[in-house]
Amino acid sequence: MTENAHSKLTVVGAGSVGSSTAYAALIRQSARTIALYDIQTRKVNAEVLDLAHGTQFTGSSEIIGGDDVAVAAGSDVVVITAGAKQEPGQTRLDLAATNVEILRTLLPQLLEQAPDATYILVTNPCDVLTVVAQRITGLPVNRVFASGTALDTSRLRWELGRRLGVSTSSVHASIVGEHGDTEFPLWSSATVGSVPLLNWRGDSPLTERELDWIADDVRDAAYTVIEGKGATNYAIGLTGARLVEAVLNDEHAIMPVSTVLDEYHGISDVAISVPSIVSAAGAFPLAGVPYSTNERRLLQASADTLSISLRLLGF
Ligand code: LAC
Repeated sequence: MTENAHSKLTVVGAGSVGSSTAYAALIRQSARTIALYDIQTRKVNAEVLDLAHGTQFTGSSEIIGGDDVAVAAGSDVVVITAGAKQEPGQTRLDLAATNVEILRTLLPQLLEQAPDATYILVTNPCDVLTVVAQRITGLPVNRVFASGTALDTSRLRWELGRRLGVSTSSVHASIVGEHGDTEFPLWSSATVGSVPLLNWRGDSPLTERELDWIADDVRDAAYTVIEGKGATNYAIGLTGARLVEAVLNDEHAIMPVSTVLDEYHGISDVAISVPSIVSAAGAFPLAGVPYSTNERRLLQASADTLSISLRLLGF
């Protein structure tokens, strides 16, 4: 829900992720005006109509959209979902070259319509594309960030809540790093309520092996869903809507999102997810996160993987 009566969100891309993001934002009342933009005229017009037909039940948010980028005019937040999507067996990094080219065309057009917006990259590989988008737009690094491992963190909290028999909202654990195969959980600082996860002695304490299984399940979750239904859309749509609210309501919420880092534990010029403060000014990495030695090593390894991708793309 937004307290901002004149807030405007534009979702770019009317595919399954973009339309799910718009749908989630409509139901959650994330923004006063929600615009859906895509170059596929029939598709975007049909998605806008289908969403609009339900607005009797969703409160005061307005849904607009179409194939003219001018629908994005004056947006406060722009969520970018347009691009090629992962096919079964493909990694997110496999999509990089194709989706970089889409951004090269798209971003200058969007910036002309919404020069003051905060841009949230959902299109994959979202970490690589965050660096690319920041370079293309020249926007401050805090105003171009990716949903990153905010989605993976939601998956982790659901898995842990289910296994420990506690509410997801009582599980404080994060996935950081690449939104992809090198992501990892911050077990050392995870808590259940105020109890350190590694000391949890509830009905079902978790062994080291179980923690590894959970981490693997979360890392591979998208592959599992894609194998079954061809794409993921609901959870990423809800994640996008939640991030939009943190920006529009100036929440200063701490969430793991991906920004271009500068001397963050020695990591620079690459975007990976770390715990960050999300507000109307965008996203800022949180100082003072206690990484274990192993977690620091995994963070560097994740950054190195993405740096290689960026170099292959010429960034
Ligand atoms: C996923 C996509 C959004 O993890 O990368 O579902």
